[in-house]
Amino acid sequence: MIRAIVLAAGKGTRMKSGLPKVLHELCGRPMLWYVLRSLRVAGIDDILVVTSEELESGIAPFGVKSVVQKEQRGTGHAVKVALASMEPRGGGRTIVASGDMPLVSEEIYRNVAGSLDGNGATMALVTVVMPLPSNFGRIVRNGGGDATRIVEVRDATPAELEIDEMNAGIYAFDEAELRDAVTHLRDDNAQKEFYLTDTVAHFVEKGKRVRPLLCDDGSQLLGVNDRAELALARREMNARLCERHMRDGVTIVDPATTYLEPELQIGRDTVIYHNTSIGRLSEIGEGCTIGPGARLSNAILGNGTTVRESVLYDVTVGDDVAIGPFAHLRGNAELGNGVRVGNFVEIKKSVLADGAKAAHLSYLGDATIGENSNIGAGTITANYDGVNKHETIIGKDVRIGSNSSLIAPVTIGDGALTGAGSVVTKDVGPGERVAGNPARSLPKK
Ligand code: UD1
Ligand code: CA
Repeated sequence: MIRAIVLAAGKGTRMKSGLPKVLHELCGRPMLWYVLRSLRVAGIDDILVVTSEELESGIAPFGVKSVVQKEQRGTGHAVKVALASMEPRGGGRTIVASGDMPLVSEEIYRNVAGSLDGNGATMALVTVVMPLPSNFGRIVRNGGGDATRIVEVRDATPAELEIDEMNAGIYAFDEAELRDAVTHLRDDNAQKEFYLTDTVAHFVEKGKRVRPLLCDDGSQLLGVNDRAELALARREMNARLCERHMRDGVTIVDPATTYLEPELQIGRDTVIYHNTSIGRLSEIGEGCTIGPGARLSNAILGNGTTVRESVLYDVTVGDDVAIGPFAHLRGNAELGNGVRVGNFVEIKKSVLADGAKAAHLSYLGDATIGENSNIGAGTITANYDGVNKHETIIGKDVRIGSNSSLIAPVTIGDGALTGAGSVVTKDVGPGERVAGNPARSLPKK
C-alpha cells in the first residue's frame, strides 16, 4: 500500500495573507483539495498532511490525518515529524508531495511511485527542465543517469547553477529507508534547514539508487508562492476544466471567460456563452443555453433550459425553462417545466409549477405558484411584516394583474384574477375576481 505525506506547513509569506497558503482557492476549491484529489484518484488513501498551527484549525473539512510541525525547520524536518506520527511498517512506498502544487495530475503520483518498482531504486523524484535562472534545486546526475545529489540554489556553485534540470519537489521513497535517512539530515547549509533533498546524496553514499523521472509537462509542476502564481494556476486549471467538458460534448464559446469548478455535471449539446461562471455542485442537463453573463451556483437544471444574464444560487429548475435576462433566483427556488422568468424578477424560496410565468419586474418570496398561472409585471409578494416572513399561495390558472401587491399570508384560489394595482390583503377564492386597494370582490361576469 502506498502512503503519502503532503507538506503544507510552510509560512507562505509571499501570499501576504491571513489565510494559510494552501487554503487559497482556485476554481472554487482550496489548493490543498486538488493535491488530495489527485493522490486519491491515484489510489492513495493513507494521507498525512504536515500543517502549521494556523492550517491545523482549518484542516477538518479535508478528511485527512494531519500533524502540526511547530517550527518550520525545513522539508526534511517536516517529513521527520510526519513519519514520527505514522505507524511504522516493514517496507512499502511513501510519496512526499507539496500542498502548494494544485496542478499535479494523479498520473505523476502514480508514475513516481511506480518508478521504485523493479529497478532497485530506493527513491524516485520528479524533475523538469526549466529556463535559467531558476530558484529550484538542481539535479546532479551520474554517467548512468541516476541522481547523485540535489543542490539548493543558495548552496550551489556557479557551475551547478548552469544545470537546467530541476527538482519539482515530488518524491517516492522506500519508507523504511526514508525513516533511516531523515535521522541523518543536518542543517549545515545556507538556509540552516533540514533539507529533504539531502536524502539523495545519503542514499547514494549507502550504495542505493535514486531515479529521476523527467516530466515533459512543466505546466503541472507550477508551485504557487504568491497571488500572481495563484492566478496562473487558476487559469490553467480552468482551461483544463473547460477542455474536459468540451471533450464530453459541451460547447463552450469562450473558455477564457467561462469559469467552471470541479465536480460539475453538464449535459451534451449544452452551449455556454462568454462571461459565465458555474460553480458548487451544479448539474446542468442536455441542450441548455447558459449565458452570456450567467452566474450559477449549486443550480440544478433540466434539459433544454435557457439562462441569460442572470444569477441563480441554490435553485432547481425543470426542462424547457427560460430565465432572464436579468433575473435573480435564490434560496431553494424551484421552477417546474416550461416556466418563464423574465427581466428584473427576483425569486426567493418559492415554487413555480409547470408553465407558470413571471415575465417582468417582480419579487416572489415564500410563494407557491400553481400551474400555468401568470404573474403580471410589477407584482410583489409582501412576505415580511417587519418581524416574520409569511407565505403566499397562488393556485393554478391564476392571473395576477400588473402591479399587484399580495400581502402575505394570503391564498389565491385556482382560476382567480386580481386587477391591475390590486393590494390583496385577504384570501381570494377560486374563480374570484378582485381589484382595488384594499382589493374587493368584483361581480361575476
Ligand atoms: C523545495 C526543494 C527544492 C525544489 C522546490 C520545488 C528542499 C530543501 N528544496 O524548495 O529542491 O526545487 O521545493 O518547489 O526541499 N514545508 C514544510 N515545512 C517546512 C518547510 C517546508 O511543510 O519546514 C513545505 C512547504 O509548505 C511547501 C514544501 O514544503 O509546501 C516545499 O517547501 P519550500 O520552502 O517551498 O521549498 P523550496 O525552498 O521551494
Ligand atoms: Ca516552494
